[in-house]
Amino acid sequence: MCGIVGYIGSNNIKKILIDGLKELEYRGYDSAGIAVLNDGKFDSYKATGKLINLEEKTKDFHTKGFAVGIGHTRWATHGKPTELNAHPHIGESSCVVHNGIIENYVALKKELLADGVTFLSQTDTEVIVHLFEKNLKSINNPFEAFKKTLNQLEGAYAILLVTKSEDKTIFFAKHGSPMLIGKNSDKEIFFASSDTPLIGYADEVSYFEDGDYGFVSSDEIIIFNQNNEKIEPIFSKLSQNKLSAQKDGYRFFMEKEIYEQSIVISDTLLGRLKDDEILFDELDDSLFDGINEIKLCACGTSYHSALTATYLFERYAKIKTSIEVASEFRYRKPIMTKDTLFVVISQSGETADTLETLKMAKKAGLKTLVICNVDNSSMVRVADACILTRAGVEKGVASTKAFATQITVFWMLTLFIAKLKNSIPTTEITRQISLIRQIPTSVKVSDSMHERIKRLSKRYLHGHGFFFIGRDVFFPLALEGALKLKEISYLHAEGYPSGEMKHGPIALADPELFTIALLPEHLHYEKAKSNVEELSARDSTICAISALEFDKADDFIKINSCEDYMLEFFEMMVVVQLLSLEISIRLGNDVDMPRNLAKSVTVE
Ligand code: AGP
Repeated sequence: MCGIVGYIGSNNIKKILIDGLKELEYRGYDSAGIAVLNDGKFDSYKATGKLINLEEKTKDFHTKGFAVGIGHTRWATHGKPTELNAHPHIGESSCVVHNGIIENYVALKKELLADGVTFLSQTDTEVIVHLFEKNLKSINNPFEAFKKTLNQLEGAYAILLVTKSEDKTIFFAKHGSPMLIGKNSDKEIFFASSDTPLIGYADEVSYFEDGDYGFVSSDEIIIFNQNNEKIEPIFSKLSQNKLSAQKDGYRFFMEKEIYEQSIVISDTLLGRLKDDEILFDELDDSLFDGINEIKLCACGTSYHSALTATYLFERYAKIKTSIEVASEFRYRKPIMTKDTLFVVISQSGETADTLETLKMAKKAGLKTLVICNVDNSSMVRVADACILTRAGVEKGVASTKAFATQITVFWMLTLFIAKLKNSIPTTEITRQISLIRQIPTSVKVSDSMHERIKRLSKRYLHGHGFFFIGRDVFFPLALEGALKLKEISYLHAEGYPSGEMKHGPIALADPELFTIALLPEHLHYEKAKSNVEELSARDSTICAISALEFDKADDFIKINSCEDYMLEFFEMMVVVQLLSLEISIRLGNDVDMPRNLAKSVTVE
C-alpha cells in the first residue's frame, strides 16, 4: 500500500514531508518523491529504493517561509518501480499523489493521448493530473475542475493535488484508501495515509470518510461528503504512541493484517472483474498458447495456496495441473516439457528455493509466471509474466493477507483460463465472478466471531497435538491452519485429508488430541462429517468449523451460510487464522516475530 503526506505551513517543509514518509515506511514501498510549491515555483524530487536516496537527492533543496507540499511512497501496482513511475506526477502547472487503483485509467489515458497529452509514466495515477488540467482549461476554476475530475475516476483513491494558481491550497479526495488531516495551534495543516506521520506535529486529527473531498489552506478547511453536502470535520486528539499507531491499535501486525484482508482483497479485485470475464492486463493471452499443463511450485503458505489452485484449475479450467515443493523439486532432476506453464508463487518474491526452481524452468525453455506480492523482486524480474497480489506490505512473519490474495488471484486465474479454453459455460463464469465479488465480505472479521475464538482458545493451550482436517480445497486450508498454529504457538499440528485419518493417524486419537475439523456445507459434507465422527468416537477432542450445527463436536465455531464452498473456504480461513493468533497470544509468544523464523527465507 502506498503512503501519502501533505503539508501547508511555514516550517521546514522538506523535512516534514520526508520525515512523514519515513513514518509510513512500515507500509512498504519501492520508490518515493516529494513536490513543493513555494513562491509560485514547483520543485519536485523522486528516487527509487529507500528514502535515503530521496534525502540524498534533496540535500541541497531548501525552502524559506510559507509553502505547500505533497509526498508519496509507492508500492507498485501499475508500472515498474522506477523514478518515472514514482509520485508525485507532474502536469504543466499541477502535481498529484495517489494511493489506490484507478480502474478506468486505460480509457482515460486513451482519451488524453488522443488530445495530445504526453505521458511520462506507466502509472494509472498520471491520468489524474492531466485530466485535472484538461478540465481546468475548460472550467477555469480549480475546485470545480477538481470535482469534475473526481467524477470521471472509477476505483479506489486517496488523492492530494496542488496547482500553481492556488499556491496556498491542497485539494484532496478520499475513496477506498485511507487518509486523514491534522492541524495545530500554529495553523499548520498536515495530511497523511495514517496517523503516525502526524505524531509530534498535529494536535488534532480528523479521519476522512469515503466520498469526502475538498480543499484546505491555512485559513479554511472545506470538506464535502459523498452527497456533495458541505460538512464540518470532527477533530479528535491524536495519540502519541507511534508503534501502536502503525498497528492501528491492533495488538500485533498479524492481527491487523487479518483485519486488512477485506480491504486488500478489494484492491486485488480492482480492474480485474467484468460481469462475465476476468481481466489481467498484465498477462498476454499468448502466455497460454501451446500449454497443456500447469506446474505450480512454492514453499510454505504459498504452497498451500498453490495446492488449492490445483483443485480449481483441473475442475474448472480443465487443464492438467501438478504441484511441487520447491526445495524438493530443485534437486530431483525433474522432467520438464515445454507445453508446461511453470508458475511460482511467493509473497516476497525472494524465497531461495522457489527462485531456483523458476530459473531451472526458464533454463529448460518453459514459459514462466510468478504470482507475487512484491513488484521488482527477484522472481518478478526473472519470470516471463507476473500477477501482483496487491496485499500491501505483510509485516507478520506468519502470512495471512498474502495467502488470502493468492487464493483470490488463483480463483480469478482459473476463470481467466476457463474463458480462454472455453472449458465451462459463460453462465458458470458469470456465477463464479459474482461469488468472487463477495470475498471481501466473507473475510470481514466479526467482533462476535473474534470474541468467541478468543474465549475458546483457552481450551487449546496444551495437549499432545492438533490435527487440522479437511477434504478437497479444505485439505490445503487444513495444512495452512496447522502451519499458522505451529508457526506462532509452537504447538505441534498437522494438516491431513479427512479421508486419511483411518490410514494410521487415528491411532493418536484421545482426549488430548485436538482435531480442528473443516466441514463445508457445500463440498463432501457427509463424507467429512463421518471422518470426524470416527475421531469423535475415539474420544478425540473435536472443534468443528461449519455453517451447519454439528453435535458430535466438543467445540463448534459457526460460520455464515454461504452460496458456495469457496466462500466457506474464506470464512474458515479467517477462523483458523484467528484461532492460531489467540492461542499464541495466550501463550505469551511474539506473534509477529516467532522464534527461529524469518519473513523471507532467502537462504537454502
Ligand atoms: C508462512 O506463514 C511462512 N512465513 C512461510 O511458510 C512462507 O509462506 C514461506 O517461507 C514462503 O515465503 P514466500 O511466499 O515469500 O515465498
